[in-house]
Amino acid sequence: MSKQKNYDVLIIGSGGAGLSLALKLADQRQVAVLSKFALTEGSTFYAQGGISAVLDAQEASIESHIQDTIVSGAGLCDPEIVRLTVEYGKKSIDFLHQQGMAFTKRQNKKGEAELHLNQEGGHSERRIVHHEDATGKELSLSLIHKAKQHPNITLLEHHNAIDLITADKLGFKQQRVLGAYVLDTHSKQVKTITANIVALATGGANKVYLYTTNPHISTGDGIALAWRAGCRIANMEFMQFHPTCLYHPDNNSFLISEAVRGEGGKLILPDGSTFMQHYDPRAELAPRDIVARAIDHQIKKYGIDCVYLDISHKPAEFIKSHFPSIYQQCLDLNIDITKSPIPVVPAAHYTCGGVMTDAYARTDIPGLYAVGEVAHTGLHGANRMASNSLLECLVFAERASEDILHQNSDHPTIPAIPDWDESQVIDSEEEVMIAHNWDELRRFMWDYVGIVRSTKRLKRAEHRLELLKNEISDYYHHYRISSDLLELRNLVIVADLIIQSALARKESRGLHYTLDYPELDKSQDTINTILTPGK
Ligand code: FAD
Ligand code: SIN
Repeated sequence: MSKQKNYDVLIIGSGGAGLSLALKLADQRQVAVLSKFALTEGSTFYAQGGISAVLDAQEASIESHIQDTIVSGAGLCDPEIVRLTVEYGKKSIDFLHQQGMAFTKRQNKKGEAELHLNQEGGHSERRIVHHEDATGKELSLSLIHKAKQHPNITLLEHHNAIDLITADKLGFKQQRVLGAYVLDTHSKQVKTITANIVALATGGANKVYLYTTNPHISTGDGIALAWRAGCRIANMEFMQFHPTCLYHPDNNSFLISEAVRGEGGKLILPDGSTFMQHYDPRAELAPRDIVARAIDHQIKKYGIDCVYLDISHKPAEFIKSHFPSIYQQCLDLNIDITKSPIPVVPAAHYTCGGVMTDAYARTDIPGLYAVGEVAHTGLHGANRMASNSLLECLVFAERASEDILHQNSDHPTIPAIPDWDESQVIDSEEEVMIAHNWDELRRFMWDYVGIVRSTKRLKRAEHRLELLKNEISDYYHHYRISSDLLELRNLVIVADLIIQSALARKESRGLHYTLDYPELDKSQDTINTILTPGK
């Protein structure tokens, strides 16, 4: 019996991007939203600092947000996309208000309550709205609450999209997306879910590195799915390392928000001396690529395990009220941040490249959209500015919904799709191979394709990857699939895209720094690294 199920729109991902899109479409379309694990498990839930958005709609404020984004992006932002995104800022925050999201307010000098604005690296002024230091949790829970109430939204937790179904793979001449094969990880059945519109909202790929601030789900699935289906992928060499991830044996992925530096936090060495002033006049508030590289340089220069972020000079009450989650999380590990500095190291944080999209989040395949961290819209260039990511999720969910709702909903009938074929595979008796390859991949990506690269290191990683690719492909074709195997298969593609993009860029720019070409090459301004399947 066929397990085929049809919706108007299939959204793969339940983070800020996926759920915003679902809520914007649901009054007029039947929508299914997939989530690989629990609905909350995505980077969105863990976002701290906030959402950058100009709310006063004054020309000067808009221009300044545009300018800061372009400066952080080191010559590779698409100016039209930057302007569009910034101009949609107010509408995006209004949408979140409508979904019931609460934002932190403080009293102004006249004693009136107004939205409190955070400051972070790269921003020349305060423009980041937030909910304490746990913006993502409040955002996620508000959207999930609304989505659960909507009769036209079907939420499918523990459903892992394996591959997209496209017309060309079924022998049709006219290409378009038709749905996806999806593993229900509880029942272990593979379902066929069809839809005339599919949106990838699968988040980033930072799990490809050994140390990351990201939750487990960030395995680049959407990028790999799109690549296998025939979409172009851009700028994968620009993987962002957040400068300040907690360094502690019991929790090595907890982020210490950039907003801590925005409120005066200083980066110091074990002897208490500051160093950021030697790297950039903006010191602690320089863009992320500069701060992360400076920390990496200090760690290597002195052979130390970490540097420290010190906010203890501020009054204890100020620290506790501005950063309640960070305060508590550190206290649980016996670090009282009101009294002592926090040990920190850089960790993989954000995927600036991704599936190429236009100003309506459309990909190369008709009917297929990509929204949020999975996409390359042109907003971030060579280095994303802090708190521009949640803004991008919201803006491009809006843009995709405008485009989808503009289309006639009477799409051609989807043909019968063959069910997933498991007749040729058997249960695995070698799960250890998957675990081993996961570890091996993430370690050599960290060692050879990290903050500082060289052609020799990249080539070494390329060679190691070739072996893994063959082993995993062989495994995939012989054994029954599991979530771990699917993720590993996707991570290997993502790693390959990162390495090939890094090898192609013969200069240092933004997040891509290589010892062989340490200078920025002005002639490469506006040149993106675009990889095309099959070429
Ligand atoms: P995610 O929120 O990561 O959601 C991805 C979804 O896709 C999940 O539901 C997942 O289950 C699903 N999924 C993935 N693969 C599959 C598959 N194969 N099948 C089915 N479902 C799948 N940005 C800011 O702007 N401001 C901040 O303050 C900020 N702080 C951050 C703090 C941390 C610790 C981290 C990690 C990131 C932070 N970022 C911040 C970045 C920002 O949170 C993310 O870029 C953004 O939330 C991504 O949203 P998304 O909806 O694209 O993806
Ligand atoms: C942070 O709070 O430092 C994260 C902000 C971001 O990634 O945009």
